[in-house]
Amino acid sequence: MTRQKVAVLGTGTIGAPVARNLRGKFAVSVWNRTPAKAAELAALDGVEAHADPAGAVAGADVVVTVLKDGPAVREAMEAAAPGLTRGTAWVQLSTVGAAATDDLADFAEHHGLVLYDAPVQGTKQPAENGQLVVLASGPGAGRDRVEPVFDAIGSRTVWVSEEHGAASRLKLALNSFVFALTHGAAESLALADGLGVDPALVVDVIAGGPLDSPFFRAKAAAMLTGGHTPSFSVANAAKDARLVVEAARSAGVPVDVTAAGLRRFERAADAGHADKDMAASHLAPDAGV
Ligand SMILES: NC(=O)c1ccc[n+]([C@@H]2O[C@H](COP(=O)([O-])OP(=O)(O)OC[C@H]3O[C@@H](n4cnc5c(N)ncnc54)[C@H](OP(=O)(O)O)[C@@H]3O)[C@@H](O)[C@H]2O)c1
Repeated sequence: MTRQKVAVLGTGTIGAPVARNLRGKFAVSVWNRTPAKAAELAALDGVEAHADPAGAVAGADVVVTVLKDGPAVREAMEAAAPGLTRGTAWVQLSTVGAAATDDLADFAEHHGLVLYDAPVQGTKQPAENGQLVVLASGPGAGRDRVEPVFDAIGSRTVWVSEEHGAASRLKLALNSFVFALTHGAAESLALADGLGVDPALVVDVIAGGPLDSPFFRAKAAAMLTGGHTPSFSVANAAKDARLVVEAARSAGVPVDVTAAGLRRFERAADAGHADKDMAASHLAPDAGV
């Protein structure tokens, strides 16, 4: 039996492991703006790299986008348009927020694509382990076409709604919690240091208690050791915090903590830490207040 073909547009921190985990279950074609990253994957059996999005999506049963933001997704899909077939399922994994999802839904309608708004929870390591949590919204009919894709990349799929955009809105709510945890850890460790006590003692006290979590441990370890290989970059975290603040403003919900955290990410980025993991929140310089 011929394998179904899945095209992955974007092979960054999350897109590359997504493509690797689809391999073996599907024929996989990839495209990335910086071709070297896609070429690395094409060295693996069952993955074909393409120089342009249209080549990658040609003949695909499912198209997956894992790009930075809404404009990047729109641009890549416009470039893919000559290769798209009406009726193809489009799994949109990137975090683009609510407004951009509406724009992408218009694009999908115009090109006859069946859009699944499917942002993911989890970072680099869960993506590598096929342990992402997929937040999905999209039509009930035809879900059997995309569920095998979700099963290959994630440990769980949460169907949020049939209405596109609902999954992206849930993702914003989750990100506000992720950022609060990150900045909370950063401030606590930096404050311990500033007050002249060993910041490692913060971790020591929390270890094994109700405040402990694998996320806290990973971010605190990065902050204590200066290990800043990005699982989720400061630049992307700032982009997502901005999406949270904008959506909250439209909904009339105060998000003081995310707004302050956004300024912290922006200060870290301005100080040269944009490409480091968001744990580099602890390197944000003093706001001067
Ligand atoms: N990392 C995480 O923990 C995590 C978790 C959940 C969701 N997400 C979301 O998943 C998406 C991808 O995140 P990531 O961590 O994989 O980011 P990343 O490593 O920074 O990769 C970003 C990808 O987008 C591409 N890109 C950026 N701007 C582009 C443009 N204008 N045109 C075409 N391609 C463009 C990059 O291409 P180049 O290689 O050429 O730069 C790369 O393929 C984002 O929406 C992010 O918010 C990330």
